[in-house]
Amino acid sequence: MLRKLISPTQTIPPVAIVPKHIAIIMDGNGRWAKKRLMPRVAGHAVGVKRVRDVVQACIEQGVEYLTLFAFSSENWRRPEAEVTRLMELFVHALEDEVDRLLKNGVRLNIIGDLSRFSPRIQELITVAEVRTGGCSKLTLTIAANYGGRWDLLNAVNRWRAANPEATEIDEATLTDYLAMGDAPEPDLFIRTGGEQRISNFLLWQLAYTEFHFTDTLWPDFNGDTLKAAIASYQQRERRFGRTSEQLGAPV
Ligand code: IPE
Ligand code: IPE
Ligand code: MG
Repeated sequence: MLRKLISPTQTIPPVAIVPKHIAIIMDGNGRWAKKRLMPRVAGHAVGVKRVRDVVQACIEQGVEYLTLFAFSSENWRRPEAEVTRLMELFVHALEDEVDRLLKNGVRLNIIGDLSRFSPRIQELITVAEVRTGGCSKLTLTIAANYGGRWDLLNAVNRWRAANPEATEIDEATLTDYLAMGDAPEPDLFIRTGGEQRISNFLLWQLAYTEFHFTDTLWPDFNGDTLKAAIASYQQRERRFGRTSEQLGAPV
């Protein structure tokens, strides 16, 4: 496989520009609804609409990769009625949004252990990925039944199956076998909803990502709050282990 990426621990992406890859934990739907005395699932429905807005804002800003955590491998622990509603929303989004994605040049990619989803959802995912496969303005990755630990184990197990004689795996090969092996590592990670944790999201890929936590609940997130997060990113100095003084000098 062609290595499209050099780990940013070796080359330093300039921060003055718009991040190439933004990864977001879309959190706070339930609290948003509760504050309005509505059922939690009402927050999820509004949350889906915000995905549409943020995809649009990313296209306008020139972001090339947007990765959204929609459903974690741990979210099956939620009440059955909430999980069922989330699956329905997933089906509706896959049915209704693909034309818009195509029109806007968005390639859709779903990552996670998809085997646990219904055959209907799996079929809709395949169709959506094939239909948008030629789009290149923005790659939208939705993490569904995803966990960072699952991703790492899955990568190692797939590598082992493909290379039964090999004894050691290196960093670049492991990266290739991850669910997002063909994408650059996220430059900016955003978590809405006030919690400051990774919740088993992209454990490997976030090694040198800049973090931005905001109290804004996901259904209130929009193009302006996205721009504020990008502006905060642009103030950072990404050093990857070096000193400030070294950054101006060739490495
Ligand atoms: C995020 O919002 C959506 C999913 C995890 C599916 P939450 O549902 O976690 O909202 P809070 O954290 O309870 O407010
Ligand atoms: C993380 O949110 C997963 C998604 C946003 C899909 P959670 O709300 O499930 O995370 P925890 O359980 O509070 O860490
Ligand atoms: Mg939450």
